[in-house]
Amino acid sequence: MADSWVNSWVDPARHIGADLHLELDGPDGRRATLIRALRDAVRSGRLAPGTRLPPYRSLAADLGVARNTVADAYAELVAEGWLTARQGSGTRVAERAEPFEGSARVAKKTPARARGPRHDLRQGTPDASAFPRAAWLASYRRALQQAPSEAFGPGDSGGRPELREALTEYLARARGVRTEPGRIVICSGFAHAVRLLFGGGVLRGPLATEAYGLDFHRELLAAAGVRTVPLPLDEDGARVDLLARERAVLLTPAHQFPTGGPLHATRRAAVVDWARARGAVILEDDYDGEFRYDRKPVGALQGLDPERVIHIGSVSKSLSPALRLGWMVLPERHVDGVLAAKGEREGWTSVLDQLCLADFVAKGSYDRHVRRMRQRYRSRRDRLVATLDEQAPHVEVTGIAAGLHAVLRLPPGTERSTVEAAARQGVALDGLAAFRHPRTDMTAPDGLVVGYATPSDHAYAAALEALCGVLPPP
Ligand SMILES: Cc1ncc(COP(=O)(O)O)c(C=O)c1O
Repeated sequence: MADSWVNSWVDPARHIGADLHLELDGPDGRRATLIRALRDAVRSGRLAPGTRLPPYRSLAADLGVARNTVADAYAELVAEGWLTARQGSGTRVAERAEPFEGSARVAKKTPARARGPRHDLRQGTPDASAFPRAAWLASYRRALQQAPSEAFGPGDSGGRPELREALTEYLARARGVRTEPGRIVICSGFAHAVRLLFGGGVLRGPLATEAYGLDFHRELLAAAGVRTVPLPLDEDGARVDLLARERAVLLTPAHQFPTGGPLHATRRAAVVDWARARGAVILEDDYDGEFRYDRKPVGALQGLDPERVIHIGSVSKSLSPALRLGWMVLPERHVDGVLAAKGEREGWTSVLDQLCLADFVAKGSYDRHVRRMRQRYRSRRDRLVATLDEQAPHVEVTGIAAGLHAVLRLPPGTERSTVEAAARQGVALDGLAAFRHPRTDMTAPDGLVVGYATPSDHAYAAALEALCGVLPPP
């Protein structure tokens, strides 16, 4: 008798595929061993109540046992109440089969899905209801049909060549990035890139970061043992003239996060000069570079010096953060180090998702989606500005030329109480203080960071109403 068995079959009633591993080793005869194995599978919860078991014949064939052995085992378990057998619907796990105490424990520990706020105006997520499901599915289907057999083996840690080629063309055209496929390494997003670069020993601190930035990224860096040095900001962006002995600087040049302005052209040139003179590296976080509304697109800083800038992008704002797909465009000298940090095989991002994104980009679906979303976000932004103009003209809206969030300037001393009042009214948003580097001397004026992409279209008007309701009076 086989030692173990993994079978998969499609349950037509539940419309799911089920996979089951049965341990069939043991001193008893085949029938008794099979009964025990099935009983254990039900008891442990691996076979859920209602699950349809495979027909005698196919299970017998899979296990290399006689059909009668399976029939006898099923009959015994029906008699014991573990299974039910009904004409026409086959043999199923009984609905009242004894629940697994372990799974009950797990269920108790697993928190109920937290109910979100009534109005979600936090920055960070694109409009999830606008994910291009049909186009993504079409790309997935084509990718699956056309993938060579070797694509189903362990992936190359640099990423699929199809995706690196598609990105080379796209990033050059849309973002002004100068590269070639061999310098692109696919990763699961910006956070993963930071882990690889610093956790993997490719770069070392101290690292200069903007005085206001994503706290999550600062935490990642701290966890990798990197000391971050805050760079103050002014109306032209990060004060790169204050860079000194750091080995690297992390910037959001196209759209400072969270305050919203681009890095001024003279500062762009100055930071590249600094990196050249110091032998340092610039990390360019191009998190929402595609979404510019009013002004000419701000190209990637990487275009100024591909040997000094690591350009990092992802689909988290353009498509969805759930995909966990991103890329690093590297100076040649860092490619091997990043590949070594990633490991010999692709252990992070699904090769099929990579192929799907490659098709999505190459067929123009990515451009189409970005254009569509740009229009949608622009009209949301316009609506935010118009609503505030009407209902709270004393509140200035800034950082609106790009991205998926704006900053609302508040009267001094009112930021915290406004965020708290908003929370009480079911409006989730952050104040600027939430993004402040703990060791900076700089304090930005009071402000709210309002993400206007997160609510779905139908929820947006109510979210703006609620927002206006919690703003401080003039
Ligand atoms: C400032 C900033 N950088 C980068 C990202 C992207 O992070 P990731 O690619 O890890 O999802 C985000 C969020 O989307 C962000 O807000």
